[in-house]
Amino acid sequence: MAIAQLIAGNWKMFKGPAQARSFVAALADATVEQAESLDIVVCPPAVSLAAAVDGAGASRTQIFGQNVHWAESGAFTGEVSGSMLRELGVSGAIVGHSERRQLFGETDETTAARMVAARGVGLQVIACVGELEAEREAGETERVLERQVGAIAEAADGLEGLVVAYEPIWAIGTGRTATLEQAQEAHAVIKRLLPVPVLYGGSVKPDNAAELLALPDVDGALVGGASLDVDSFAAVCTAGARAA
Ligand code: PGA
Repeated sequence: MAIAQLIAGNWKMFKGPAQARSFVAALADATVEQAESLDIVVCPPAVSLAAAVDGAGASRTQIFGQNVHWAESGAFTGEVSGSMLRELGVSGAIVGHSERRQLFGETDETTAARMVAARGVGLQVIACVGELEAEREAGETERVLERQVGAIAEAADGLEGLVVAYEPIWAIGTGRTATLEQAQEAHAVIKRLLPVPVLYGGSVKPDNAAELLALPDVDGALVGGASLDVDSFAAVCTAGARAA
């Protein structure tokens, strides 16, 4: 059984400020009990962060960005720095999500640089790793994780506030999840390389959350699609609270 559970909702490019404010307020109301035994995080799009912080109010729900730049400020069109996130009351950020890696040219190096900068201003970090389907089929999962996690481990100055999310790319948004054995095995590999909490991500839903979260090396979940609805996200949080 896992020791601590963190349930994070990654909204991707869904929900503007008005929806974010009311969703986070409703989620906080729906998860008062669960929030006593686990950490609940919501990651809205950048434009909705301030409204989400407002909606969270005095609840224990934390708001994270979906990305953060490595520079404090500068000529980086479209990017947001860690201190800007801090100014909004945001408490952490995702870095290196596979959609960033696949669609926006994110690499192990830029992921590590973003992590270092975020931690430098006191933000918590969820650093994402995970293999492609072809890599798994070729038996390269462990090698890919060693490379991705190695880059994070090498750059990390201390481990506090650092979390890794294992998201097999073939399981993201596809309705396919890793088998319990595949998830446990990958999490154990990651923890051997970097002893931090490891979240599972990839089609986590209310009906599969309990068994995934009960695995010994699974410390929480990074939830995409199922985090867009208050009831289903609250149900995943309930599964997390039971596994805690
Ligand atoms: P999913 O997304 O739960 O919709 O598969 C997970 C993620 O990309 O973080």
